[in-house]
Amino acid sequence: MASEDVETNELSLVNVEGVGPATEKRLKQAGFRSIKDLRVRGPVDVAEATGMEMDDSVEICEKARIILERLGIIEQSFVSATDLYKKTRDKITTGSGSFDDLLGGGVETRAITEVYGEFGTGKTQLCHTLCVMVQQDRVAGGLSGKAIYIDTENTFRPERIASIAQARGLDPRQALEKIIVAKAYNSAHQELIIEETGPVIEENGVRLVIVDSAVAHYRAEFLGRATLSERQQRLNRFMHILVRMSETYEVAVLVTNQIQSSPDAVFGDPVRPTGGNVVAHTSTYRIYLKRSGKNRIARMVDSPYHAEREVLFTLTDRGISDVGETR
Ligand SMILES: Nc1ncnc2c1ncn2[C@@H]1O[C@H](COP(=O)(O)OP(=O)(O)O)[C@@H](O)[C@H]1O
Ligand SMILES: [Mg+2]
Repeated sequence: MASEDVETNELSLVNVEGVGPATEKRLKQAGFRSIKDLRVRGPVDVAEATGMEMDDSVEICEKARIILERLGIIEQSFVSATDLYKKTRDKITTGSGSFDDLLGGGVETRAITEVYGEFGTGKTQLCHTLCVMVQQDRVAGGLSGKAIYIDTENTFRPERIASIAQARGLDPRQALEKIIVAKAYNSAHQELIIEETGPVIEENGVRLVIVDSAVAHYRAEFLGRATLSERQQRLNRFMHILVRMSETYEVAVLVTNQIQSSPDAVFGDPVRPTGGNVVAHTSTYRIYLKRSGKNRIARMVDSPYHAEREVLFTLTDRGISDVGETR
C-alpha cells in the first residue's frame, strides 16, 4: 500500500527534528500522515488537532516547510525570477480550444482557479469535463491523473461523466474509476473532507481537485451581518488549505462560486461573486461565465498576467466544447 511508503520515506513525520514516536502517534491519530500534511494544514490546525502547544506546532511546521523546500517540493522562500520563469506549470485542457486559450493552455496546477456565474452557466459542466480530461495523457491535454470531486450542491452526476467520456471516444467505465467523489453535507463536513484530502491525493495520483461549490454551505448557514466575520474566517481558512494543497501536492484546484445580484452596481454587470474578498484574494485565476444565447461566454477577470478578455464556448454531449464543433 502507498500509505506504507509514506511512513518509510523521506516525508515521514519522524524526519522532522523534534518529532519523536509519541508526537508522531498523536499526529497520526489526528490525521497527519506525512510532512506534506503538516504544511497543508498549518500550525493552528496542528495545535488544535493534537492538543500540542502552539509554540511547538509552529516550530514543527517551520521545520516541515524547510524539509519540503530542500526536497524541491515547494518553492524556496527566495528564488530568482529566472528560475520561476523556467518552471513550467502543468495544464489541463477544458475540452474547448477557445477556453484553453483564455487560460493560457488550460487549468493550471499549483494554482486556484475560481469560476463564478449564474445558475446554469456551465460551472458544473466544466467541473465534469475537467475530471475526464485530466485522465488523458499529455498529448491529449491531460496529466494522466485522477480527480477528486468535492460536491457540496449534490450536482455530481456519474451519468454525465460517462456520457462525456463516450462522446469523446473514451471508455466510460475507466473514466468513472478515476474520479473520487466526496459529498459534503455542511460547511463543517466540507472542512473535514479537505483536511483529509492530502493523503487521498498522494495515494491515488490525483492531479485535479474540484470544489463545486466552495461557498454554498457557508452562504446557507451563516445568514445576516452578525455571522459575517465568522463566515469569512472559516471560508478563509478553507481557501488557504486549498492554496497550500495545490502547491504541496502539485494539483490544479478549481472552485466554483455563485453570484449574488448587487442592485447598487450602476455600471457593468450588476453581479458579484459570493464570499467577497476571501475567495477572490486566494484565487490565482478568476473566470466569469455568462450566457450568450445558446452559447456561453467566459471572461478572464483579475489574472496576474492575462489581459481581461472574453471567449465563446458551448455545452454539448462532449461537455465543454468550441462553438461549431460537431457533437
Ligand atoms: N448533454 C448536454 N448537452 C448540452 N448541454 C447540456 C448537457 N448537459 C447539461 N447541459 C447544459 O448545462 C447547463 C447547466 O450547466 P451547469 O454546469 O449545471 O450550471 P451551473 O453553472 O449552475 O453549475 C444547462 O443549460 C444544460 O442545458
Ligand atoms: Mg452547478
